[in-house]
Amino acid sequence: MRKGHNEPRLGERINDRLDALAMLTDEPGQLTRLYLGPAHRDAVRLVSDWMRQAGMSVHVDALGTVVGRYEGATPSAPALILGSHIDTVPNGGRYDGNLGVVAAIAAVERLKDQSIRRSFAIEVVAFGDEEGIRFPGTLGSSRAVAGAFDKKMLDEVDRDGVSRRDALAAFGCNVGDIDAIARTPETALGYVEVHIEQGPVLEAEGQAVGVVTAINGAKRARIVVTGEAGHAGTVPMAMRRDAMAAAAEMILAAETLAKATPDLVATVGVVTVANAAVNAVPGEVSFTLDIRSPSDDQRLAAARTLESTFERIAKARQVTAGVTFTFAADAAASDPRLADALSAAVSRTGQEPRRLPSGAGHDAMSFKDKLPFAMLFVRCRGGISHSPAEFVSIDDIDVAARVLVDFVETYQP
Ligand code: HGY
Ligand code: MN
Ligand code: MN
Repeated sequence: MRKGHNEPRLGERINDRLDALAMLTDEPGQLTRLYLGPAHRDAVRLVSDWMRQAGMSVHVDALGTVVGRYEGATPSAPALILGSHIDTVPNGGRYDGNLGVVAAIAAVERLKDQSIRRSFAIEVVAFGDEEGIRFPGTLGSSRAVAGAFDKKMLDEVDRDGVSRRDALAAFGCNVGDIDAIARTPETALGYVEVHIEQGPVLEAEGQAVGVVTAINGAKRARIVVTGEAGHAGTVPMAMRRDAMAAAAEMILAAETLAKATPDLVATVGVVTVANAAVNAVPGEVSFTLDIRSPSDDQRLAAARTLESTFERIAKARQVTAGVTFTFAADAAASDPRLADALSAAVSRTGQEPRRLPSGAGHDAMSFKDKLPFAMLFVRCRGGISHSPAEFVSIDDIDVAARVLVDFVETYQP
């Protein structure tokens, strides 16, 4: 069906919906939408409505993922899965994850409007646990779709002591149905995700979109440094077992190692001081560690090096350092055939099929060794993400959406 003259471009329609989605937040005045929180519940409702308008049947799975299904020419055919995540980091941007979900819905809606039914079904998924902010682990929703959910995650607790299991029950999910979430090569053809680049490469090269070659592996840990609390005015420096100073030396050691190791990155994003007071020597400080690399060997070696470095620093300062690894995901390469098909759609849309790696983690990596996956990156201003300054132009959203429409219209399993 030819688009109506006054019908908004795909880019405008998607951008309007991203604006509406961005209003759903747990923190007024900023975009914070944490897994299984009130804003996530509202977003599930809104995304479900859009999926139904696009001709999909909709359900919410046992981990809170919204699943829309657009049948193929023959009912219950294997599905090509599109989607991304609708959770955000605190004070995050409106495009990270959300763009991939809204663009996928728009692509299916375009098929529906043209009464196109492919030989395969299309499922659109809106994952709720990609950022891994509320609970220590992450990617639980997408790993379940890939058939790799670790049920130990259900016992993880948030900062209020609420377990993932209880939060799911409060959200209306039945954890007894988790196993039924898994797709297999018999029920799914692969997974394709549209996502902002969250880096500077496409902008620097003047490209609107790019095709991802591989996603860097990641490892997360929580380190608890325990010394001895004391009075800031009376404890002599030589007698202190200062948990903060020890943690600071460990944090700098992580930065020093990453600066000295090409391709390795290390980040301490959260530091918590127990009983913090301006006039008290900290007795207990905990911090998170996030290390990434395209090479799993390099990432694991860095984790081991830092564990022994922290031990050495702790000994020298007569404190203890407890290291708990809370999450790991191996580096994951895109499926060559799916990536080639996506690149062909990029070329047919008049764009340069630039290939590039992903330093950021994505739900797509959950499908490693399970289902073929590919990703389309979209240019974002200054490569900024995980910030309210995150921005993607309507023109670039329109390009990405047209690539995705071309892909779903032409893909041959
Ligand atoms: O951490 C990441 O790379 C992703 O943004 N969750
Ligand atoms: Mn993301
Ligand atoms: Mn993110």
